[in-house]
Amino acid sequence: MKAIVITQPGAPGVLQGQERPVPVPTAGEVLIKVMAAGINRPDVAQRKGNYPPPPGVPQDVPGLEIAGIVAECGTEVSRWKKGDAVCALVGGGGYAEYAVAHAGTCLPVPEGWSFVEAASLPETVFTVWHNVFQRGRLKKGEHFLVHGGSSGIGIAAIQLAKAFGAQVAATVGSEEKCQACRALGADICINYKEEDFEQVLAAEGVDVVLDMIGGDYIQKEMRLLKAEGRLVFINTMQGATAELNAMDIMRKRLTLTGSTLRNREKEFKAGLAAEVEREVWPLLKNKQFKAVIYKTLPLQEAAEAHRVMESSQHIGKIMLKVE
Ligand SMILES: NC(=O)c1ccc[n+]([C@@H]2O[C@H](COP(=O)([O-])OP(=O)(O)OC[C@H]3O[C@@H](n4cnc5c(N)ncnc54)[C@H](OP(=O)(O)O)[C@@H]3O)[C@@H](O)[C@H]2O)c1
Repeated sequence: MKAIVITQPGAPGVLQGQERPVPVPTAGEVLIKVMAAGINRPDVAQRKGNYPPPPGVPQDVPGLEIAGIVAECGTEVSRWKKGDAVCALVGGGGYAEYAVAHAGTCLPVPEGWSFVEAASLPETVFTVWHNVFQRGRLKKGEHFLVHGGSSGIGIAAIQLAKAFGAQVAATVGSEEKCQACRALGADICINYKEEDFEQVLAAEGVDVVLDMIGGDYIQKEMRLLKAEGRLVFINTMQGATAELNAMDIMRKRLTLTGSTLRNREKEFKAGLAAEVEREVWPLLKNKQFKAVIYKTLPLQEAAEAHRVMESSQHIGKIMLKVE
């Protein structure tokens, strides 16, 4: 089969198509004929050599989310059968014509959704569900802030937070991105190049922040958080360290938390998938949650897809299609 391989750490051009053997599913896995795969920012970090994959997954083929057709099932798989249309969270290996996934991290392609649309869901929706709703415990009526509102994570966070009744603020780097976030339901959108999000939100405060930026945002977020507020980290693109006043944490009874999805055990991911299917999948049927696809490229143009992502001009997801 054709797979896109990170031939060495470096610029997008290190991603090259190579022939690889079709992977063989273990007892609890399914083999999926990949029709589409999503690009995520962690793939870029992996390509640069800054995000080594966990053991047990393809080490040099990126790709954390796919959609396609079940081609073969391991002996212990009971839910899926050959021919089923699924999307799946995978630990790696998604940029290929075939990939294996644990049966528990596969979900049905939602009715009326294309493979490209379905493949845009697993990494972002699982990450948002776990961090915003499980760790962040976001509730109806609360104030929620997400940075990178137009990112793959951002568009999922805005739509889910709105669907579950929160007041949503997002930060982005352009007016066009602001408009897109508002169209997805954001109540407030702040172009951080023109306005300081702390000043804009100071009067209301926030209950939950989903932070992928870190750096000097951390102190601003600590000041903005209301009593019992939750600050959830999923990355630290502007720096991982900050000076904190522990008195603020005590006085406001704050929770500081965060997580990375990829290195979690398969049982955790299967439990998360089951909750996502129960809580989020119903929203997909009536398009209360929409796929936002910025660009779809053929699998062999993975390098170009990474260039597009690194330009940071995209709004929503960048996808690969296997033709
Ligand atoms: N912890 C986890 O489990 C987990 C899982 C998946 C993703 N993530 C993280 O979540 C974030 C979003 O992922 P994604 O795949 O949705 O990414 P993405 O679509 O590429 O979006 C990233 C966006 O962040 C904004 N940004 C702000 N500061 C930036 C900086 N210093 N460098 C680059 N971009 C910057 C950019 O938009 P603006 O124009 O608005 O600045 C950019 O479009 C990433 O940081 C990723 O690593 C974490």
